[in-house]
Amino acid sequence: MARRKKLYEGKAKVLYEGPEPGTIVQYFKDDATAFNAEKKDVIDGKGVLNNRLSEFFMTGLTQIGVPNHFIKRLNMREQLVRAAEIVPLEVIVRNYAAGSMAKRLGLEEGTRLPRPIVEFSYKDDALGDPLVPEEYIIAFGWASQQDMDDIVAMALRVNDFMSGTMFGVGIKLIDFKIEFGRVYEGDFPRLIVADEISPDSCRLWDIESGQKLDKDVFRHDLGNLNDAYTEVARRLGVLPSNVTHAPTKPTLIN
Ligand code: TMP
Repeated sequence: MARRKKLYEGKAKVLYEGPEPGTIVQYFKDDATAFNAEKKDVIDGKGVLNNRLSEFFMTGLTQIGVPNHFIKRLNMREQLVRAAEIVPLEVIVRNYAAGSMAKRLGLEEGTRLPRPIVEFSYKDDALGDPLVPEEYIIAFGWASQQDMDDIVAMALRVNDFMSGTMFGVGIKLIDFKIEFGRVYEGDFPRLIVADEISPDSCRLWDIESGQKLDKDVFRHDLGNLNDAYTEVARRLGVLPSNVTHAPTKPTLIN
């Protein structure tokens, strides 16, 4: 088989040309980075967990009518997605203060916000993904006012879905980051949720204990990252079968 064409390699994923026009194969690596790649490691199995978890969240979004890039999972580390022009923004939704917001405003981590707050960073590693107001986004043409209205509306729907799903398994959704892409139906552009949704790009705290079950475990050396992601996957019922350690009973075949 011909070697497939690599389109892009990022910090946690590789994108390959898909089997049909308009499709992309998204490969999840085991690499973990933080603080704009100042801190790096390889966490065996992280890519497998994130592939499954992103499939789970994107499929749920499809079920409630939030358009997204996910088509199907291909194997343990790869999924087929729709090719989209990525809008150069990190769209962050916050329910509780944490991370850069807690630091910027001097708020205690975990303080409930008066309502979900949506903010935007300009995607540029060299600049450290700076926070930008909506006016910059429109003025520089990264997205139109209509795009921004659609992005905020979709981000809040993703927040409701993710908050409810996580609450159902005893986890508080503190905040998350998503990205959007533009696809074309004929000449008509439409925005869809793209990239990934996984514990790499969310803050997830156990409701009872407050234990962190997301990439902050890696950022701040709080323990084993895979154990945290496995716990999230286990609670959601999406553990890959080869990571399951549950004893299996012989099944009687009639
Ligand atoms: P922050 O508090 O560090 O700004 O992060 C907000 C959310 O965005 C948090 O859930 C982690 C996520 N995030 C990313 O997915 N990628 C990034 O590069 C950064 C800085 C944060």
